[in-house]
Amino acid sequence: MENEKILAAQESVNYVKETMIVGLGSGSTAEHMIRALGKKVAEGLKIKGVPSSEKTARLAQEVAIPLITLEEAGTMDINIDGADEFDPELRLIKGGGGALLREKILAHNSKLNVIITDSSKAVDKLGAFKLPLEIIPFASNSIMAQLQKMGLQPVLREVGGAPYRTDENNNIVDIDILGQEELDTINQKLLGIPGIVETGLFLNYTDILIIGKGDGVEIVKRKS
Ligand code: A5P
Repeated sequence: MENEKILAAQESVNYVKETMIVGLGSGSTAEHMIRALGKKVAEGLKIKGVPSSEKTARLAQEVAIPLITLEEAGTMDINIDGADEFDPELRLIKGGGGALLREKILAHNSKLNVIITDSSKAVDKLGAFKLPLEIIPFASNSIMAQLQKMGLQPVLREVGGAPYRTDENNNIVDIDILGQEELDTINQKLLGIPGIVETGLFLNYTDILIIGKGDGVEIVKRKS
């Protein structure tokens, strides 16, 4: 799968043109893209990047991609990011790496969203991958209790025995949405619970999906 990730990542940087402001995603596939973009910058491409996580910022600095903040950027020309699952309607689950909040903010503020994945992430129905939610630590017990009541089997993500902390110092809860028929409805219900900051459901952002498949890539574009 690593080679498929690399192929998708290499294809995606062809969409990046001179002087663009580029949202830089997080995760292993995005890391291949950042390295590929770093090579283009070394060859003379002039761009600015907006990182979606502290880890991505460190890698971008390592490969000498000039960075600016979202505040400085305003709108990005293009945002390139990975995914944990995608369905035939190009809807996504993201957040396996815990960066979903900043990733969704970048996706929302970008003119073009390009998603890069390997072929193992394709599903007919989203939800085999547990859906990550970013939640405020202050409310974590009450949110867990509500999610439990809703039958969503919440699990608080932990690292080394302590609750995982995001770059925004929040927690992550992973829930089971496989039985949910209406993704828009469940997404709205979740966002209606005070203390849930964001969900890893990216239902309407993908413009171009690049899937590494064997020795090549398949490119799927949003039906407008
Ligand atoms: C990070 O929070 C995620 O949204 C990633 O985009 C997602 O987990 C994909 O990661 P990989 O490219 O490592 O599979």
